[in-house]
Amino acid sequence: MSKDPDQQRSPLQKLLDDPTKFPNLRDYARQFQAALGMTRGQVNKALGHQKAEHFFRWDRAQWRLVTEKTYKQLLKLPRDPAFEPRPWTELKTEYDRLKDSYPKEEESRFFEYQKGVTEVITHSTVAGQWHNSDHPTTKPVPLAQILIRSTCRPGGVILDAFMGSGSVGMAARLEGRKFIGIEKERQWFDLATQRINNLDDLLPKKHPQKGKITSLDVSQM
Ligand SMILES: C[S@@+](CC[C@H](N)C(=O)[O-])C[C@H]1O[C@@H](n2cnc3c(N)ncnc32)[C@H](O)[C@@H]1O
Repeated sequence: MSKDPDQQRSPLQKLLDDPTKFPNLRDYARQFQAALGMTRGQVNKALGHQKAEHFFRWDRAQWRLVTEKTYKQLLKLPRDPAFEPRPWTELKTEYDRLKDSYPKEEESRFFEYQKGVTEVITHSTVAGQWHNSDHPTTKPVPLAQILIRSTCRPGGVILDAFMGSGSVGMAARLEGRKFIGIEKERQWFDLATQRINNLDDLLPKKHPQKGKITSLDVSQM
């Protein structure tokens, strides 16, 4: 029996299929196309590919923001000089903000599909660049990041009731999620607090969380 195609679409695909969502960005795409004075087919022909096709589906399902590369190509096409194009990074910021602001559907509360994430995640057991820990079972921070991105909305709260050296807390904060950690051993509690509090110093300048990670509130029982 074939599956209901509606159930096979991710929550994000469903959002992008709904012409009432992303109204400003869709309208911007409409204005851009009007400034080009071309049909979608003509744009495809002018670009030599169909990568802008979904950007100009502003009035229907399967709308998508173009990639930066394709956007740059679109900017080179002749257009009405009265039209002032917006920078792609600005469009992307708005797109990401809107994407996160729409309520996800029930199904996505458990596990949202992401490229490369399936029921079985294969990952190196080495904790990588964040492995500044003597705890005997420290987990790789990037692995926790994959799980957090897949199960918790940006701005949501991650609870690790067996915090150990705080790898999950580090991952939560790297992903812009709030974090509550509980650990019974003083030694590991202090190490976790230290690793999480020092995270900002380890981040490269351009990391999206740089400067946004504040110190933890610490309570002791
Ligand atoms: C497997 S380790 C966690 C490792 C951690 N996820 C990491 O990556 O560093 C489990 C931790 O839970 C702590 N623990 C065990 N029982 C606990 C309890 N009842 N309350 C709080 N922490 C506990 C242990 O001290 C240990 O550090």
